[in-house]
Amino acid sequence: MTTPPSTDEWLTDFKARHSLDMPLGADERLISERAQKAAEYAAEHVPARFEHALPTVPEVQAWAAEVIRSAVTQSQARGQQIATVQRGPSLLLLGPTGVGKTHETYGAMRVIGLFGLHARWLVISAADLYARLRPRHQVDAEAEFAAVVNAPLLAVDDLAAAKNSEWVEEVNTRLVNRRYEAARPTLFTSNALPKQLRAEMGERVASRLVEMCQQVSIKGEDRRRAT
Ligand SMILES: Nc1ncnc2c1ncn2[C@@H]1O[C@H](COP(=O)(O)OP(=O)(O)OP(=O)(O)O)[C@@H](O)[C@H]1O
Ligand SMILES: [Mg+2]
Repeated sequence: MTTPPSTDEWLTDFKARHSLDMPLGADERLISERAQKAAEYAAEHVPARFEHALPTVPEVQAWAAEVIRSAVTQSQARGQQIATVQRGPSLLLLGPTGVGKTHETYGAMRVIGLFGLHARWLVISAADLYARLRPRHQVDAEAEFAAVVNAPLLAVDDLAAAKNSEWVEEVNTRLVNRRYEAARPTLFTSNALPKQLRAEMGERVASRLVEMCQQVSIKGEDRRRAT
């Protein structure tokens, strides 16, 4: 196994390549506190397998850079103390099993967080999302839905992998529509081919995804077999 690059070195290079050397806010102390909090949040929420993940796909790196840039620009326009993720671009990451979609997803979230932005992120697989929203005794499913859909930065991993039902379709439609309307940056991943995705998700979801997302396909072998 090769040694993963140091995240600090990687970030310095990433900033230079994407011209992200602009100030994130006036208060240096606040920014470094944010970055510290982001590192703690990542330590708690990034699964062990992806704890050192950094995005390698150019379009994913560019997406992360654009989320950061949009946050800085919008926050400056609002006179906010520190850059906060509000509106931003979305990405649809496609590719067969094992090519690194989840790795890229956690990598992008780590990078955005470590910048020192105010960027609370959530990565959830579609299957876990449905499990979380299933009507259960003493669980307010609408509150659960709101917590997911209002996450400033959201990744929904493995769309269209679960068995489709009317209920799943309704969840997908509501979720995508809410993110679409609020223009909140969202990263969707799926194993499905574009045509399959359209068939599985339905026309209304697919149409919104096409408008709101840049679509990127990762090609290659299943990395799990290569090891
Ligand atoms: N850029 C990378 N550098 C090092 N290891 C990687 C990279 N991308 C992926 N991997 C490793 O390859 C394996 C598969 O990656 P990952 O789980 O992200 O694939 P996936 O596309 O999400 O697969 P699935 O569709 O089955 O969920 C994991 O062990 C992951 O840690
Ligand atoms: Mg995955």
